Amino acid sequence: MLTDSSPDTNVETILFEDKDALSCYAAERFIELAASRHRQGLPFTVALAGGSTPEAMYAHLAATDKENAEIIDWNQVFIFFGDERCVSPDAPESNFRLAQQTMFSQVELPAKNILRMPAELPDHDEAARQYAATLRSHFALTGDPVTDIPHFDLILLGLGSDGHTASLFPHMPALLETKRLVVATAPGLKPFVPRLTLTYPVLNNAADVIFLVAGEDKADTLSRVLEGPLDKLELPAQNIIPKNGKLTWLVDSKAASRLSTSFHSKLREQPRQTVEL
Ligand code: 6PG
Repeated sequence: MLTDSSPDTNVETILFEDKDALSCYAAERFIELAASRHRQGLPFTVALAGGSTPEAMYAHLAATDKENAEIIDWNQVFIFFGDERCVSPDAPESNFRLAQQTMFSQVELPAKNILRMPAELPDHDEAARQYAATLRSHFALTGDPVTDIPHFDLILLGLGSDGHTASLFPHMPALLETKRLVVATAPGLKPFVPRLTLTYPVLNNAADVIFLVAGEDKADTLSRVLEGPLDKLELPAQNIIPKNGKLTWLVDSKAASRLSTSFHSKLREQPRQTVEL
């Protein structure tokens, strides 16, 4: 594992030899952050990423659940979603379905602690409003659009090969949303189904935002996002700048293969994570 911490902002990029090492580390960060909240007697609220990359992380959380039983209290973990495809929750494209099959069904997480997006509703704007109401209720917000924004402990994000994250796709109106917490949007990449997505105000209000980026198909985009000129309409992931939180990019060597030599030179070698929690 190699890491680079940008001194000017609270941003860290960590390079892993492969997706498995990245996923194990991501699972261990999840547990560490949850344990930290438990020690403070506070709930742990997390918004999961969609897509396929997080699957190995979810599987690692499930596989290590018994050994972490003393560390993570699933009764105090509240799971939300950063975005969802507008399909049935048991459809193959559903982000909820992936998390349900690989993690929720394998750990002692109460069903009431899973707050999925009602993306199967035919009226997608109404579905977005309902989820926003769920967020306001859970975070006990008063509804002031300026001050009252959910403060997640952790938001996990993926990176699309077109530079999108969550379901904030290039040049879509959702990129310009500054008041609503959740919006419906047309897709910009497969699966070409409408989506619900958290908006930048919510994503950038988290204490920890962690990108999981793996695979050769992300290399060009990751290089443009991390080292290319700013173009937030073309590369929406560039607009993930937590106001007071920490941003961590977890990238594997294939995804990082187009990063510059100078970027790599700032990273330092660390052994594969086998953290004793
Ligand atoms: C979705 C997403 C999306 C995803 C990226 C990466 O619902 O598709 O949330 O932002 O995280 O497209 O997807 P992969 O992990 O499948 O490459």
